[in-house]
Amino acid sequence: MKSLGTMLQSGDWKGEKHVPVIHAPEKVKKGEEFEIKTLVGEEIAHPNTLEHHIAWIKVFYHPEGSKFPIEIGNYDFSAHGESEIYTEPYVSFKFKVDKPGTIHTMSYCNIHGLWENSVELVVED
Ligand SMILES: [Fe+2]
Repeated sequence: MKSLGTMLQSGDWKGEKHVPVIHAPEKVKKGEEFEIKTLVGEEIAHPNTLEHHIAWIKVFYHPEGSKFPIEIGNYDFSAHGESEIYTEPYVSFKFKVDKPGTIHTMSYCNIHGLWENSVELVVED
């Protein structure tokens, strides 16, 4: 069997426009709401046309010590120039956690495939 995981690409988002950028606090308080932003193309804009676009971003949280990641959100950017409407691959949401862990994001470019990034989250009592 071939694993989809081996096709996930990554890199430094400042030099590779496809890598989803994650803006999250390094430290949060247990059970306190905070904001996460994830987007594609912060440093180098990615094309956003019908022919070439970011189709979706997914976000997961993997609490330390847990066997599996938890899906936090699935964001589809459905208008890519239809009727001159363009949706930017930009997501902002709030959430809260009890355990430290890792925020994972995955994005999909209809021409250049799957991309991922992650950041660690410290949770204080
Ligand atoms: Fe692309």
